[in-house]
Amino acid sequence: MTERFSCVGTYWVQTFGCQMNDRDSEILAGLLEEMGYAPASDPETADIILFNTCCVRGNAENRLYGHLGNLKPLKEGNPKKILGVCGCMVQQPSELEKLEKDYPYVDLLFGTHNVHRLPQLLNLVLGGQRTIEVWDDKQAGIQEELPTRRTDPFRALVTVMYGCNNFCSYCIVPHVRGRERSRKPADILNEINQLASEGIKEVTLLGQNVNSYGKDLNPTFTFAELIREINGVEGIERIRFTTSHPKDLSDALIQAMAELPKVCEHLHLPVQSGSDRILDAMNRRYKREHYLELVKKLRKAVPDISMTTDIIVGFPGETEDDFQDTMDLVEQVKYDGAFTFAYSPRNGTKAAEFLDQVPHEVRMERLYRLNDLVNRLAHAANDDLVGTIQEVMVEGPSPKDPSIYTSRTRGNKQVLFRPVEEHGDLNGKLIFLKIIESRTWTLTGEWIDKTAHEVTHEQAHTDAPTISRH
Ligand code: 5AD
Ligand code: SF4
Repeated sequence: MTERFSCVGTYWVQTFGCQMNDRDSEILAGLLEEMGYAPASDPETADIILFNTCCVRGNAENRLYGHLGNLKPLKEGNPKKILGVCGCMVQQPSELEKLEKDYPYVDLLFGTHNVHRLPQLLNLVLGGQRTIEVWDDKQAGIQEELPTRRTDPFRALVTVMYGCNNFCSYCIVPHVRGRERSRKPADILNEINQLASEGIKEVTLLGQNVNSYGKDLNPTFTFAELIREINGVEGIERIRFTTSHPKDLSDALIQAMAELPKVCEHLHLPVQSGSDRILDAMNRRYKREHYLELVKKLRKAVPDISMTTDIIVGFPGETEDDFQDTMDLVEQVKYDGAFTFAYSPRNGTKAAEFLDQVPHEVRMERLYRLNDLVNRLAHAANDDLVGTIQEVMVEGPSPKDPSIYTSRTRGNKQVLFRPVEEHGDLNGKLIFLKIIESRTWTLTGEWIDKTAHEVTHEQAHTDAPTISRH
């Protein structure tokens, strides 16, 4: 082992928030490992603890402050331990001020645009200097070729664009992540080709609003064109992407989803509200009818598509009637699942200044009602899959019971099944399962004695069996 790879200490990176942050954390871990740090088994024993934070809602922030409070005695008992906070909260001036002043035992603070600078910043801290570096949007570029530590051998997150230009009135993201910046198609394709050569079979393309991918490139390049290119990468078997904005979802993308065999039949299409009045106040720039039209078009083009969404309840000014419009839309679309949120005012956003804030109890009560409906619909959608044959990608033994394996359908539903020894090593394989049981968030499947190749081949040569690629 050379000097460079000898272990200089251990690290623990804890991630809050979305998949964008998960991806950034893989890069933070990659940078630390390149410096000679190894993963720690828990935060207590780690020499470096980094919190990669989220500020999209108040409860993510509160959880961070709770963790920092818990670590204070640990840091006091071992002043050599390095404590760092990075990510979206640091990019938010009011939170940065609080972290800087009220948490003096945090040694390192850096923003979302400074991730690649971790080695330099850490060296300053190791030299005994409390270090704070936050760049603004104008200093933000795109850093290619950063080291990374991916833990899943078959599935990878690939960021295709950074930032957001939409300024939905409730949302802090454009304030902390800056304007839209797309990666060049060639860089994305190089990365995906490399991933495929390492055994990755499924990629999830990430951006705050992937539908406006490439508008800032010269020459411009559309997201539909990008997924067509990715569909051609040998070794990649499944393509997912998130998140889409209904105002930018193009016919070309719907067409591409319908045509490209590797693009999974699942779309996460945040609606946020079913009331035109509230959509307008949210600055979403589409109407309820437009959204419902899109769903119709999608279901026509991709018949078994699984649809999920994000919904906010208790946005300022939301009346019971507005809320009922949301319930009605949810009932009409019959989502397979939804992330539901009680509105959380964010400093610096327009909606935080609105005068007609909805009381906390009302927001929570609406959230419970909505969740009941979402759960009921999710269960009904799963019930519909009982008896169908689904292509799943095997994820591996379940952490709770290793005799049960977990897997995922193309529609992003988790299916549990019991493998038998003669199935061999199934991890990362595409197989077919017959769905025999459904619950709200999981399905149970039964092995059918065919490989993906055999079923596809059979299907191509006979009329039967009916395979639902949900
Ligand atoms: N309050 C509640 N939910 C929010 N989201 C974004 N900002 C807020 C907020 N201030 C939700 C939206 C978005 C998801 C990622 O988080 O539904 O789609
Ligand atoms: Fe936030 Fe709207 Fe941008 Fe999504 S599209 S990140 S909700 S501003």
